[in-house]
Amino acid sequence: MRTRRSLIDLDDLTASEMIYIFERTADFEQEEPGSLLDGIACVNMFFENSTRTMTSFTLAEQRLGGNVITLWPKESSLQKGETIEDTAITLAAMGVNILVIRHPEDGYPRRVALAFDGHVINAGDGTHAHPTQGLLDIYTIRQEFGELRGRRVAIVGDILHSRVAHSNIAGLRAFGAEVILVGPPGFLPDDYMQPHAEVVRDLDSILPDVDAVMLLRIQRERFKDMPLSDEEYIARYRLDSKRLKRMRDDAIVMHPGPYHRGMELDASVLDFAGWRYANQVMHGVPVRMALLDFLVNGARALVA
Ligand code: CP
Repeated sequence: MRTRRSLIDLDDLTASEMIYIFERTADFEQEEPGSLLDGIACVNMFFENSTRTMTSFTLAEQRLGGNVITLWPKESSLQKGETIEDTAITLAAMGVNILVIRHPEDGYPRRVALAFDGHVINAGDGTHAHPTQGLLDIYTIRQEFGELRGRRVAIVGDILHSRVAHSNIAGLRAFGAEVILVGPPGFLPDDYMQPHAEVVRDLDSILPDVDAVMLLRIQRERFKDMPLSDEEYIARYRLDSKRLKRMRDDAIVMHPGPYHRGMELDASVLDFAGWRYANQVMHGVPVRMALLDFLVNGARALVA
């Protein structure tokens, strides 16, 4: 049996471990999970706003029978000068087993994991990683296409500042998918993530040949000056009805949310048969249940 203490990014998991998590996710979508986190205390600490990740972690912990505490950073003793390391030591001393952390600083969850005697789960750190979003995105694509080897997934927009893109690239590559990054130079340098992905500037040119398009929100809170005007971005990268017509009939469109109508997509995308946003959100709870179970209880069937 192999257990992982923490999940900071998807390269902390092997492809077989991710498959195990996906199999457990499918089980949890079919049947009651039982009290797999009975007696386990879970603290959720979000230093940045969240709707999807915060709510789905809370629901996942509750559905597994965990003791769930939301520790709002602004109401914690961090405001009195306690360090996050001392907070982590304090929480572990009172029996907290799992810390789910979102923070605007890259590397913050890893820092906490070094101090905390328990499991740390990265719920999104700065521009670095968002591994549970990556898991639920890959689960969604696998549900559609099965085996991912050779499948082509385009990630479009503000790649540079997107922790979602970074985790998806790591996870998709582990399954042998081809990743095509699409965006303007200010959001996607020429040599970005080489040799793990193809860099493309022209969205229209790749649309007929991809299985999935993953749109990204422009992360305006992470940079000062927009590298191109909104109008230029919309003209070149917004997915709209004209661009949807270029896609294959069985291709899907995804977005981690929150999405901005009018910017990275227009309303026609929300009516597109292949629009999978609701599936992504729906999978967020059972995927996180499966991850929590894996971290705490291990995976009996896996060989290290
Ligand atoms: N996708 C995502 O991380 O959404 P939230 O910021 O609402 O958690």
